[in-house]
Amino acid sequence: MVSEETLDPKDWEELRRLGHRMLDDMIDRHRDIREIPAQGSPPPEALGDICVPLPSKGEGEERVYRVFQRSILPYGAANSRPRSWGLVAGTGSPFGMLAAMLTAGYNSYGESPTSASGRVHNQVVDWIKEMIDYPEEAGGVLVSGGSEANFTALAVARNARAEIDVKTNGIQNVPRTMTVYVGDGGHHCLERSVELLGIGGGNLRWIPSDSDCRIDIGELKKAIANDRGQGRHPFCLIGNAGTVDTGAFDDLNAMADIASREKMWFHVDAAFGGWVRMSKSHRRLADGLERADSVAIDLHKWMYMPYGIGCTLVKDKLAHYSTFVYGHEAKYLKTAFDRVKEQGDVLRNPHNLALPLSREFPSLKAYMLLRAHGKEKYGRLIQQNLDQANYLGDLLKSEPDIELTAPIASNVVCFRYNPGGLSEDELNSLNNALAKELDKVNYRMFSDTSVKGRWSLRGAIVNHRSRHDDFDYAVKTVKELGRKARIDLEK
Ligand SMILES: Cc1ncc(COP(=O)(O)O)c(C=O)c1O
Repeated sequence: MVSEETLDPKDWEELRRLGHRMLDDMIDRHRDIREIPAQGSPPPEALGDICVPLPSKGEGEERVYRVFQRSILPYGAANSRPRSWGLVAGTGSPFGMLAAMLTAGYNSYGESPTSASGRVHNQVVDWIKEMIDYPEEAGGVLVSGGSEANFTALAVARNARAEIDVKTNGIQNVPRTMTVYVGDGGHHCLERSVELLGIGGGNLRWIPSDSDCRIDIGELKKAIANDRGQGRHPFCLIGNAGTVDTGAFDDLNAMADIASREKMWFHVDAAFGGWVRMSKSHRRLADGLERADSVAIDLHKWMYMPYGIGCTLVKDKLAHYSTFVYGHEAKYLKTAFDRVKEQGDVLRNPHNLALPLSREFPSLKAYMLLRAHGKEKYGRLIQQNLDQANYLGDLLKSEPDIELTAPIASNVVCFRYNPGGLSEDELNSLNNALAKELDKVNYRMFSDTSVKGRWSLRGAIVNHRSRHDDFDYAVKTVKELGRKARIDLEK
């Protein structure tokens, strides 16, 4: 008798008990997160627990779960905490966690448009367009996050605007060097995309920003004219709808005008800022977004969904499909793809709109969350964060030793401790030291950046758990640690 193996448990009841415990533990964690201190990197004993030789014989589910609880769970993931505004890190939510569990349990390999999962995918894309007022006729695909969303859109832009068939002939055969333009507040993932797409990071023009950290339109026009004069091919303009450092919004309408005049592709990186469209007070900041040829937007940041989910929207569905469709459809996929051609909308088949072939059904969590909570609730949460950014700004402005280092355009607040009498270099050292001390007291409460050469602390408020008193605490802590850092600087 052959003894065949499986990964199913021998004792289903034992697994059920462990599963229920895991679920209870994680629900408790979400409930109690306010009281659980955030810790940074794991200490040596935790590292010793994590970094072990690959076990030849399994250690068992129970034991591995204990390693997770003991040495992984307590470290990192500060972003779930109410006093976390560092980087642009989304909070997640208890129901989001449960929906993500269903995704793993369902274990679908795809979102073909004829399947239930494909219907869910396309429904979510339609809802995203509706929430940010992007034209209904556009297509789109859910991807892993903002970087992939930008990459996907820029791949379409490159292929659509190249003067040759890049898909067949490759970027090395374009007759003129292709150039791309973005404000200097653009996210570094754009540079990575341009490099990976073979355009070359040296052909990405970082256009200076004005005193409000928005792209300087005059400088942009000059750069395009200069490149044209040198025989290059300016083909793509990238607008920032919420720069990562300061939350500034470019003048998207002015950029759309230039793009249309210059016959360039207009892409907008709206990774987190696009959601201002859901607010009452700031929705007009993103005016002109609807004119973009493509948009990148995230759901795991300011929509508080579990990582990783972002979305690329593209108006020209055929250009999008043509960029990613298999040139020579694999034989083993032929029947499946033929079925889509007969019964579905090929231009809305996510398997032909982004890099991965297998897809982990990212749309399920978005679908369940949007249906469970509704558009209005999300609108109120976005508005709450925008109001909190102003509240934090007002608290900081009322402190004589603290100054804002950038205007508060949306949900990002940049500031520095400046007790007076210090040079710019000393202020940079002081605030650098302050950022490190703050991280020790409250890991990732704020992160830091440089705004026009001034070292700044920075809060990006994409947190549905924050309350006004959390900002009161933050300012009190900055003041205390700032004073201490000032004394240390003088030693
Ligand atoms: C404006 C902007 N674009 C793109 C990204 C990259 O997104 P992701 O981290 O989801 O890949 C970020 C991340 O913070 C961002 O703020």
